[in-house]
This record gives sequence, structure tokens and C-alpha cells, in this order.
Amino acid sequence: MRLLHPLLLALSFSLETTAQRCWRQLTCTGPSAPSFPGPWDVQNFAPASRTLQPKRILSLPAGALLSQYPGPAPLSRNGSALVFDFGLLVGGLITLTYTSTGPGRIGLAFSEARDYIGEWSDASNGRFRGPDGAVYGTVNGGGRGRYVMPDWALRGGFRYLTVFWTTGAGARLEVQDVELEIAFQPTWADLRAYQGYFHCSDRMLNRIWYAGAYTLQTNAVPTNTGRMVPMLNRGWANNATLGPGDSIIVDGAKRDRAVWPGDMGVAVPASFVSTGDLESVRNALQVMFDYQNKDGSFPEAGPPLLQQNSDTYHMWTLIGTYNYMLYTDDTAFLDKNWAKFQRAVAYIADKVEDGLLHVSGTRDWARWGQGGPNAEANMILYHTLTTAALVATWTSRAPPSLAQSYTVQASALRTAINAQLYDPPFNSFKDNTTRTALHPQDANALAILFNITSGPRSAGISTSLTKNWTPIGPSPPELPGNISPFITSFELAAHFSINQTARALDLLRRTWGWYIDHPNGTQSTLIEGYRTDGSWGYRRERGYKDESYVSHAHGWSAGPTSALTHYIAGLDVIERLGRRWSVRPQFGDLRFAEAGFVTRLGKFRTGWRKVEGGYDVEIETPVGTEGDVVLPVLSAGVMPTVMVNGAAARARLAAGVEMVLPGGRYNITVR
Ligand SMILES: *[C@@H]1O[C@H](CO)[C@@H](O)[C@H](O)[C@H]1NC(C)=O
Ligand SMILES: *[C@@H]1O[C@H](CO)[C@@H](O)[C@H](O)[C@H]1NC(C)=O
Ligand SMILES: *[C@@H]1O[C@H](CO)[C@@H](O)[C@H](O)[C@H]1NC(C)=O
Ligand SMILES: *[C@@H]1O[C@H](CO)[C@@H](O)[C@H](O)[C@H]1NC(C)=O
Ligand SMILES: *[C@@H]1O[C@H](CO)[C@@H](O)[C@H](O)[C@H]1NC(C)=O
Ligand SMILES: *[C@@H]1O[C@H](CO)[C@@H](O)[C@H](O)[C@H]1NC(C)=O
Ligand SMILES: *[C@@H]1O[C@H](CO)[C@@H](O)[C@H](O)[C@H]1NC(C)=O
Repeated sequence: MRLLHPLLLALSFSLETTAQRCWRQLTCTGPSAPSFPGPWDVQNFAPASRTLQPKRILSLPAGALLSQYPGPAPLSRNGSALVFDFGLLVGGLITLTYTSTGPGRIGLAFSEARDYIGEWSDASNGRFRGPDGAVYGTVNGGGRGRYVMPDWALRGGFRYLTVFWTTGAGARLEVQDVELEIAFQPTWADLRAYQGYFHCSDRMLNRIWYAGAYTLQTNAVPTNTGRMVPMLNRGWANNATLGPGDSIIVDGAKRDRAVWPGDMGVAVPASFVSTGDLESVRNALQVMFDYQNKDGSFPEAGPPLLQQNSDTYHMWTLIGTYNYMLYTDDTAFLDKNWAKFQRAVAYIADKVEDGLLHVSGTRDWARWGQGGPNAEANMILYHTLTTAALVATWTSRAPPSLAQSYTVQASALRTAINAQLYDPPFNSFKDNTTRTALHPQDANALAILFNITSGPRSAGISTSLTKNWTPIGPSPPELPGNISPFITSFELAAHFSINQTARALDLLRRTWGWYIDHPNGTQSTLIEGYRTDGSWGYRRERGYKDESYVSHAHGWSAGPTSALTHYIAGLDVIERLGRRWSVRPQFGDLRFAEAGFVTRLGKFRTGWRKVEGGYDVEIETPVGTEGDVVLPVLSAGVMPTVMVNGAAARARLAAGVEMVLPGGRYNITVR
């Protein structure tokens, strides 16, 4: 507890009222304004200021509403408690201002879900020995005072703060003010300055898109606020160093608060289309290169955790590098890390025998089985090789023949995967080359998404995947009873990628829609996983020994954010920085949709709206670029009347109405 001199108190209050600033002493390198301001900004969850107060005061045990905040907040006797509800997920350090009539101890306990309000925080320390418990401030005597959480006790993800009071002296405490200093997205002065946007006719989809974006913000953290390792037996500490720079993307707001490349498989594309924060991505990738092992393998997770032995996460670091390069064309980053990149590709490609990757680094996303000729890992290797072939053409340091060599390896692998792992009677890939009856969600989704299959085979797999569906999301055969929004993010993109729009929207609404409206959830972020019975205890049988350990703000669940932009609005980059882009909207049951994002070349934006007799499309892309536009037909096989800026379009009828447009502004009508 710190009792400040009144003058200091006044000074620090006046500093805190400066509305927009970055975290602590960090230089503000983030954007200063949103790139696409508009009516959709009301859906943006990000607070307008780095300092925030609660929205409501609740009582224990059930969380009944006592008052809006501010309101009376007396802790009148020993054991009294109040719950402060911020109304959305937040993270950082709390300052409590109070008056008391005598000595005692103030306790602060945190939870993401409403289920765990009370004097025990939800679990985050990772040891499963003792609880996270609470942090305490000592009140020495009567009068006005102030408690500021120490930096090490930073709480990275919570919506609810329980404040409780123990006193042997019969003293009374009145909470005068609760103030949070937000730590996440530390280099941004304006937390709402998103570089991308999305808006459509379905409010729930909009909420999910913005919840994904906000989740990613809560996962972009100061590099010295990682979870402590070795893990603590009791309590928590978030003062570990995670990597270079000022801001870094971790797996979750509350925990693990470590860099996890597999999670970046979803989080990186979603960050690009929404917040546009690729600084945190670069630092996360850089730390993986910095800690590459002598044999060429990457750690499974960044420091201080530095878990090893995961072939799949090794490959996600390479795929993450491809995505980062696609969006930024940061050649300095690639040149610096190129030798390591090439060694890492060789490391994993050397594990191919008899045509298939034989996994020996068996750690993975939580699926039960991994090792040997595992299907999921082979799908990921195919994508690693095809993307590495592109990356090799983006640096002058690569030998000229290397891209071709990666492409040849990829092509042979694709043939072997289809020959050795496909199980025709099930229209699915099996888990490996044994006679297993397990047809996993992950490998089958990735096979479609990464183009390992095409045509009728992809369509058949898409249908087979629906057999796993429960009313609240797919139960993966490789981790039954659990729902993984991480793996389901790939499944979602897979259905969209072959134009199974209605199926994809159904999956999105039943899975993410269930959580976003859950009364006990954060209603602002995306959960790491949950159970098919609708309880939170994801991985209960697979290492998560406390159901409150589950993270309710996990970037690996943000697949809908990129999927809605890429497939519903239909906007994507095809070549680095969007030098080539595509607009391929899918309408589904929606009436309109629009989206935008930014690269160094400028703003990319598109939108469509159904009208009487057809629909209208707007496109705005930087001059000097070129795009592939594929628009839905109005009736199968019939070329509609298409006008571009008032003139008849030069379009051809193929999968849709296809045309190539140079960067610029277009109004297209289709009737
Ligand atoms: C929310 O949590 C409370 C308390 O744990 C529980 O009784 C209630 O069933 C939960 N609501 C839902 C929809 O799961
Ligand atoms: C982090 O905080 C804990 C708890 O106060 C402390 O034991 C540990 O030494 C700190 N670690 C670092 C790196 O400062
Ligand atoms: C105050 O409450 C705490 C916890 O609720 C309890 O352990 C303690 O015995 C109480 N002290 C007194 C003096 O009642
Ligand atoms: C093949 O997959 C099944 C199902 O996941 C698993 O039980 C088995 O251990 C795997 N076999 C090998 C050789 O990896
Ligand atoms: C798969 O193929 C489609 C159609 O050719 C293409 O648009 C898409 O980019 C490809 N996806 C990948 C991951 O290569
Ligand atoms: C996608 O499917 C919709 C209807 O299911 C159809 O109208 C549209 O033309 C298809 N688009 C492409 C590019 O195949
Ligand atoms: C497209 O239409 C909008 C209004 O709907 C108009 O403001 C804009 O100038 C038009 N752009 C072009 C390139 O014709």
C-alpha cells in the first residue's frame, strides 16, 4: 500500500486524466486515428482511454446488480465484498482510492467469466498446485488512502474485480474510486485507431468480428509483462520478458502470456484485417528466430516458457513469417532471418520418409494423438512448403533454384497425402496411415483450406465435417467433448474457400454466436475453448486441471475476423502489400457487407449491397495495384448485365462474373 502526499495525489490524478497515451514510458508508434471511421465504430469494443473505470457494482455470491458505477461502495464489516464489473474484458493495473475508519487488509481478486467472481481469482499461474488467490493492500489506519497494484501483479485479462475487506478492528472501508490502467496494445495512444473495419447486415456477425479484433488487442502486450516461469505454486506474477521491442502478441490476455506460433496461424491474418498491428507480430516472430535451436528447430513457445518438441508449431512459425511478409514486405526482417528460415524448412522437410512427414516433435494444440505420419502435420507441411517457395522469391539471399525445389517437394507431398491418408468410404482423411477410424477435424479442414484437395473431394470433406457438429460447435474426433474455436477457425475458412457460404455462416453462428451472447462470458472477446455440454472446462481431461484456467480472450479463436473480411466482404491480398488483390464476395443470407484494411500501399476497401433486381459493389484500392474480381451470378450459368462506373464491363462468365481491374475506385452494378 502506498499513501501518497496529497500534492502527489493531485499531480498523478491530473496526469491520468490526459485521455490518450501509451503504456508507461513507451514511444507511441501505433496509428493515431482509425483508417476507416464510420458508423461501424459503435461496434468497436476498445475503450477510448487507457484509464478506465468499472461500469457496475455487483454483490456476492450471485452477482446481483447493486448500482451503476460510480455508486455507494461500502465494505462495512470484516468479510464484506463488492464486485466491480468493467462490462468488457480488460487488463492492467488497478488503483483503489478509499477512506477507512481503521486498519485492515483490502483484497483484490479477478475473473474473466462471471462464474468465478469472489475472493479467489480464476486460475492463471499454470502450476495447478495452489490458487491464484488475490493481491492485498494493507490499510494502516483511518482516513483517505490509495492502493496501487505492484507491477508484477499485473492482471492481463479480467472483466470482474472483487474487492474484499478483512479487519480485526471492526473498521469500515468505503471504496471511493476504482481505476484501471490498461496495459495492452501498449504503443497505441488511441486504442480505437483500427486500421481495418467490417460491417454487414447481421449485428451478431459484426459483434463477433469486433470481439476478434479486441481479443487481439488484449493479446498485444508490453514485452516485460509475460507470465512468470518457473510457474508459481500460489498467486501469479506477470513480469517476465517475452522478446524484443515494446509490444508483442501472445496467446491470451490472462494466460499464458507467451508467444505461441500455432496461435499466430489464426491471429496474424486476423490482426492484419482488423487492428492492423503487425509490430507485435514482428516481435513475436523475431523471438522465435532468436531462440532457434542448433538443429534448426524452433521452440514450441517463446521465452521464458521455451517449450520444445513441436513439429507443427515449428511449421506455424514459418507460415507466420510468410503471412507477415505478405502483409508488410518487410525485406529487412526477411533478409536478417533468411538463413534461419531456410534451415528451419530443411529441418522439417528432412523428416519426410516414403513421401510423408513423420512427426517426431509431438507436442501440438491439444489433440490427443500426434506422431508418425500424422495427417494434420502433413497438411501443415504442404502449406509450409508452398508458402516457403513464395518467401524464397522475396529475398535476394535465396539461391535461385530453391523456390522450385520447395515447390517440387510440396507437389510430391500432396500426391502422397492424397494416396496414403485419404479414406474414400468416409469422404475424409484419416488421422494417419494406420487402420484408424479417426477422421480428424483439423486435417480435413486444412486439406480443403490449403488446396491439398479440390473439386468433389473438397466438397465431400466439407459435408463430412458437419458430422462433428453439435448445436454449439464441432466436437473434434481428435479431442472429443471439447470445442476448439482455433481448429474451427480453419474449418470456417475451409467451407468459405469452396463457396459453402450457408454452411460456413451456420458454423460461425452456432459456435462463436453461442459464446458472444453467453451471460457468463466476457461479451467482448473470444474464448480459447469450451465443452460440448456448454460448460467452460475445455481440456479438463487434457492438462487443464481447473476449469477456470481457460482463457476467455485467446487470439487463436479470431478466425471469423479474417474470414468475414476475406470471404463475406470478399477482400484479400494476393501479392505482397496487395500489389495484387482480390474481391470475391459471398452473400449468404446477408443484405450487405463491407470491409477495408491498409497496407503500406494505401487503403483497400470494398462493399456490396443487394438491391431490387441484383446488387451493387464498390471497390477502392491504391493506384498502381491490380485485382481479380469475381462476383456472384444472379442465376446459374447466365451472364448478368454488369456496369463498371457506368460503362458496360469487360467481364467473362466462369466461376462467377470475372474481371481484372487496375487499382482505383469503382462502382459496379450487377442486374
Ligand atoms: C452462469 O453461471 C451461473 C453460476 O455459475 C450458472 O448457474 C448459470 O447456469 C450459468 N449460465 C449459463 C447460461 O450457463
Ligand atoms: C516477478 O515477480 C515475482 C513476485 O514478486 C518475483 O518473485 C520475481 O523475482 C519477479 N521476476 C522478475 C523477472 O522480476
Ligand atoms: C475476518 O474474516 C476472515 C475471512 O472472511 C476470517 O478468516 C477472520 O477470522 C475474520 N476475523 C474476525 C476478527 O472476525
Ligand atoms: C494413428 O492415429 C490414431 C488415432 O489418433 C492413434 O491412436 C495412433 O496412435 C496413431 N498411430 C501412429 C503410428 O501414430
Ligand atoms: C487455393 O486455390 C484457390 C483457387 O485457385 C486460390 O484462390 C487460393 O488462394 C488457394 N489457397 C491456397 C492456400 O493456396
Ligand atoms: C457461390 O455460390 C453462390 C450460391 O451458392 C453462387 O451464387 C455464386 O455464383 C458462387 N460463386 C462462385 C464464385 O462460384
Ligand atoms: C460511386 O458512387 C458513390 C455514391 O454511391 C459516389 O459518391 C462515387 O463518386 C462513385 N464513384 C465513382 C468512381 O463513380
